[in-house]
Amino acid sequence: MKAVTQVLNELAANAFEKCGYSSELGAVTVSDRLDLCQFQCNGAFAGAKLYKKAPFMIAEDVAKVLDENDIFEKVEVCRPGFINMTLKDEYLLKIASEIENDENTGVEKSEKPETIVIDYGGPNVAKPLHIGHLRSAIIGESLKRLARACGHKVIGDVHLGDWGLQIGLVIAELSERHPEWRCFAEDFSAENDSVEPLNADTLNEVYPFASAKSKQDEQFKAKAQRITYELQNRKPGYIALWKEILRVSVADLKSNYEKLNVDFDLWYGESDSDEYVDELIKVLTEKNLLRESDGAMVVDVEKPDDKAPMPPVIVKKSDNSNIYATTDLATIIQRQKDFAPDRIWYVVDKRQSLHFEQVFRCAKKAELVPESTELSLLGFGTMNGSDGKPYKTRDGGVMRLSDLIETVTNAALEKINTSAFVNGDEKVELARKIGIAAIKFGDLINHRTKDYIFDIDKFLSFEGKTGTYLLYTISRINSILAKAGVSEADAPKFEGIYSESERELLLKLVLTSETFKKALEDKAPNYICENAYQIAASFSSFYSANRIIDEQDAKKRSSWLSLVMLTRKVLLKHLDVLGIEPVENM
Ligand code: ARG
Repeated sequence: MKAVTQVLNELAANAFEKCGYSSELGAVTVSDRLDLCQFQCNGAFAGAKLYKKAPFMIAEDVAKVLDENDIFEKVEVCRPGFINMTLKDEYLLKIASEIENDENTGVEKSEKPETIVIDYGGPNVAKPLHIGHLRSAIIGESLKRLARACGHKVIGDVHLGDWGLQIGLVIAELSERHPEWRCFAEDFSAENDSVEPLNADTLNEVYPFASAKSKQDEQFKAKAQRITYELQNRKPGYIALWKEILRVSVADLKSNYEKLNVDFDLWYGESDSDEYVDELIKVLTEKNLLRESDGAMVVDVEKPDDKAPMPPVIVKKSDNSNIYATTDLATIIQRQKDFAPDRIWYVVDKRQSLHFEQVFRCAKKAELVPESTELSLLGFGTMNGSDGKPYKTRDGGVMRLSDLIETVTNAALEKINTSAFVNGDEKVELARKIGIAAIKFGDLINHRTKDYIFDIDKFLSFEGKTGTYLLYTISRINSILAKAGVSEADAPKFEGIYSESERELLLKLVLTSETFKKALEDKAPNYICENAYQIAASFSSFYSANRIIDEQDAKKRSSWLSLVMLTRKVLLKHLDVLGIEPVENM
């Protein structure tokens, strides 16, 4: 359905046109002074310059025409030329019932759906999933859901780091521990030989061990590099072992992402771009962009107006192996072939911004995608501990994601231990949902580029801007509706607006589509968090100002219960976009 601001935009555009002015002047925005009016249009000011006429006169003309629409309670002109609009209650209620019945909860779908590839997650195979990848998963998932809610076609790709040195390190270490494995024999054959099965615990132990070893042992490091190169050149024994590492690692990753309610359409990795590397080199060669530098092949990407140094991007190293930029460029070719996307968004730590700037410039220079394709890094800041430094385990190590989830879930469990609603297994399940909501909301409420402090107590608080507060609000709504005996079959109807607090809540609910649109424009899921909080807080004021369940006036009671139901529906839509699972009771 159309967003209310869109309806008003069209009415205002027509009114300007009817008065002989350009329809483009009719942009309507939500008022920031709800005590004065609900919406406003400032087009008369721009009109004044265009038509050499006082803004007030233009505004007067337009307001008169606008006021002929019977959806307005009042259309007023304020000096020097603002047009202020307030809707009739009946009209607000009409939109409210439409939203209640709308499958997309009133969120307007784009008239020009785009194809967007979101590259997020980015875990590295063979390394345990750690909290460095948490933000990418949480933010990327929510942007994906947001863009889908707004009607776009979105493809989420996990883009595994599965082709780099970390694999070489693991294989090198395994080859020293188990030299007798067939996969290390020169005559290994994929048809006749098999590899030893691995498990997640082995991998979790081997990688950190091998990584530490390579820092002290030059020879070992060189061996790991050689193995990486041979793997990339598809040596059969290494490929077979690599597939086994991938199998174990991906299963482990999937179970962790599942806990976070994060899922990907594509489980591609850097390795999948390998078949496009030849094409990449061919294009770069044909366009005369490749240049040799110290044995490596590079592309210059600096621009005359660069303020900071912009080093050339290395496409092939001197040992002829592929690196991070190679796989990212080849992946762009792959995505262009598969989806011809309008946009590719990379949700990655902002410290990688130089890498992405180089890759994007090279991709545009080589015309791997049309000039109009948006290639953007949606960089994010760090999750810090209370000391303001990147969050660590007690002994100073990198925190594993599964440990973090467990810590928060346990804290949530402790908190709800006295809850009368649930027991046993249900309690554990409830704690899991609260824990995940706390982690995700605690992250998403911050603008993605900002660092934030991970604070379990704050995130699990029943008050303030927390996921816990939102889940609690939904659970309160559920119990109100249950007590009032509301059923889907005999749903209450909107009959009128009886108090200021409900008008305010209603208006917020009706403006949801607007918030979603802005959040997508700015790629800012924090707007969704903020809006959900504002709705929950307005609901709380409305609820404490009125005695809903015992209300004797049947029309009032019906209308209030409708509002309670709509609040739930709209809040659930917000949670859905944030990738947070709701709870029944808590
Ligand atoms: N695996 C990378 C890392 O851990 C992140 C990948 C991000 N995506 C990309 N297309 N480069 O740093």
